[in-house]
Amino acid sequence: MYKFFFNLVFKRMDPEKAHYLAFRWIRLAARIPVLRTFVAAALAPRYKELRTEALGLRMHGPFGLAAGFDKNAVAIDGMTMLGFDHIEIGTVTAQPQPGNPKKRLFRLIADRALINRMGFNNEGSEAVAARLAARNPVFKATVGVNIGKTKVVPEEEAVGDYVTSTERLAAHADYLVVNVSSPNTPGLRNLQATESLRPLLTAVREAADRTVTDRRVPLLVKIAPDLADEDVDAVADLALELGLDGIIATNTTIARESLGLKSSPDLCKETGGLSGAPVKARSLEVLRRLYARVGDDLTLIGVGGIENAEDAWQRILAGATLIQGYSAFIYEGPFYARALHKGLAARLANSPYKTLAEAVGADTKKAAA
Ligand SMILES: Cc1cc2nc3c(=O)[nH]c(=O)nc-3n(C[C@H](O)[C@H](O)[C@H](O)COP(=O)(O)O)c2cc1C
Repeated sequence: MYKFFFNLVFKRMDPEKAHYLAFRWIRLAARIPVLRTFVAAALAPRYKELRTEALGLRMHGPFGLAAGFDKNAVAIDGMTMLGFDHIEIGTVTAQPQPGNPKKRLFRLIADRALINRMGFNNEGSEAVAARLAARNPVFKATVGVNIGKTKVVPEEEAVGDYVTSTERLAAHADYLVVNVSSPNTPGLRNLQATESLRPLLTAVREAADRTVTDRRVPLLVKIAPDLADEDVDAVADLALELGLDGIIATNTTIARESLGLKSSPDLCKETGGLSGAPVKARSLEVLRRLYARVGDDLTLIGVGGIENAEDAWQRILAGATLIQGYSAFIYEGPFYARALHKGLAARLANSPYKTLAEAVGADTKKAAA
């Protein structure tokens, strides 16, 4: 039914307009008590065996919404209602910014992919912090806060910019993510080099500890699938050295080789980050590499091209404790998260593992043995 609706309505609309329309409906539905209770009862993860402990937090299930969908933290209840158990809001930048000129979001339907060059359009850390502070949640959800660099701030001043966001947002974050992997802010991905990343992550850690004194806010870094393997290893080593809590693998890719020749060449040539099915293989590969390097010492979050429960299961076996999705939600619709959790529960039941935690990294461990 959703696919019929997608073809009839969303497919004919500009992708960004379709996003905001769907977003408005989700937010509206979440404001109507009877409706939201009904939808949440149908879609929320309710499988005991999928209960997950990660980053010192208790969750109903491992699957959450990746950053970029709810940049300004306006639809946390709405997305929780749709079955996402953790919601990563952002990317939020210290200063508000409009993002890149439109058009900046493209659907590659035949490739089950998106290309975006949104450029961190968001209301800024002050406004988002105020919204999170005033929030009166209807549903219990884990809220991750993903922060990035303000575009007009020069690369040399990036640390101060991230620190400002941390000071404003850490108190409202169940976990905090330093995003250094979006391809749409010039120079941002240079921050993934360890000589830039070390001072950045150290300063963000210190700022979080200074601002939030009654608990330790888990800190993660989100990396690009385009890093060379040795750079993935270097980030993993640095994360261990600095006592980070986890790594999110991966963001979108600037590579285009994984695109089939299905979508129009003009679309494939659009500048920006490619997500969805074409990033699946590399995201999985990066995750495996990370788990082989860090084992259970860090929490790994797998994201990139997760379309169905089988993809999610593969990420867990590769080493992810948590998993996230974005692009496939556009194509699969409101039952996406529920289908994932349901399929995961079925896979776990048919596996040799008693708990999800036992399955984490099982394939990667086997390959190493
Ligand atoms: C339109 C769009 C906007 C995004 N914005 C952000 C963002 O602001 N911050 C971020 O860390 N990732 C962002 N992402 C990347 C996603 O969080 C995710 O890492 C990536 O899309 C791969 O997952 P997917 O294949 O399930 O979409 C964005 C992705 C899309 C499609």
